Amino acid sequence: MIAEDFTTLFGFPPEISGFTPGRVNLIGEHIDYNGGRVLPTALDLGVTVALSPRANGRIRIGSDKFDGIAERGMSDAAADHWSDYITGALQIAFAEGFGPNGADIAVTTNLPFGAGISSSAAVTVCVLRAARDLSNANQSDTDLAVLARRVENEYIGMPCGIMDQMAVAIARPGQALSLNTETLSFDLIDLPKTHHMAVIHSGVFRQLNEGRYKIRKEECDQVKTAAQREDICQMSDAELHRLKSLPKDIFRRARHCVTEHRRTVAAADALRENRMAELGALMNASHISMRDDFAMSVPKVDALVADAQAFGAVGARLTGGGFGGCIVACVDHTKLDAWRDKLLAAHPDAFWVA
Ligand code: GLA
Repeated sequence: MIAEDFTTLFGFPPEISGFTPGRVNLIGEHIDYNGGRVLPTALDLGVTVALSPRANGRIRIGSDKFDGIAERGMSDAAADHWSDYITGALQIAFAEGFGPNGADIAVTTNLPFGAGISSSAAVTVCVLRAARDLSNANQSDTDLAVLARRVENEYIGMPCGIMDQMAVAIARPGQALSLNTETLSFDLIDLPKTHHMAVIHSGVFRQLNEGRYKIRKEECDQVKTAAQREDICQMSDAELHRLKSLPKDIFRRARHCVTEHRRTVAAADALRENRMAELGALMNASHISMRDDFAMSVPKVDALVADAQAFGAVGARLTGGGFGGCIVACVDHTKLDAWRDKLLAAHPDAFWVA
């Protein structure tokens, strides 16, 4: 279908097409730039891209979500436009020697934007992979994830960690990626068939580049300076205690990093051994830490999480960059339909994502 969309837009068929999933993080929030471990899984939903190379330094992009064709140049700076991620991905692929000097691209997605399920990482990785596969280059999926993060950090100006790009480049639906964000070593854990990891949007939309993400990142930088280490998630209790002299909020950010990392390590073990009640309890504790220590939740999300738990989820929490977006809840399959109906009836602005 994407090939037909492409042909309709440009009048000739694409040379390559591909799909990259979105992701939902089960636990381990805001610690992927602090040396922590994270545990995302891929969604069935995602981004599809069809591409044909050009050699004239020009880019044309059509999307099912936006009218018209966006025209960009291969040396254009980011312009706060939806085509920035694709432009940035093509620029870095060309600079790294495996991408074309321009392209025609059609993109379709069924991922909601501003939901914290990595639509931007998915489209960036999808374009990089198409460019790699087209030229038979030997970049690994991890290499592509690292380049996709550079697009965010250097081109878009969003100081994110590596979780989203690794998750969408490596995980498949039904698998959780237990990722060490310092070394990029990982293992894939099969999710149990008995439970569903439900993703529900709170109805509160936000954009990460709007600034609050950056403020949290800067607060963590203050912790790094005080602790004199980059991997603040790995601090011991004694090291954390020594930071008590920091301003109260900054100390709380540090405490979230340390405890969230430990919860995530424990959650990966629980998942591996099918101890779902323990996984759920860790998810619930993670939400409290995000709400109280990292101050990244909003009242509507807190209310949705509270009801998700009260209506019978094994565990539930805010997921992604925060300040709105989605929650993730672990729910027994046999209870899923009734649980969802009750939750959505109690929260009219919320909607089912996956
Ligand atoms: C966003 C960022 C990730 C990560 C999460 C929070 O999705 O892109 O790098 O920091 O927020 O866990």
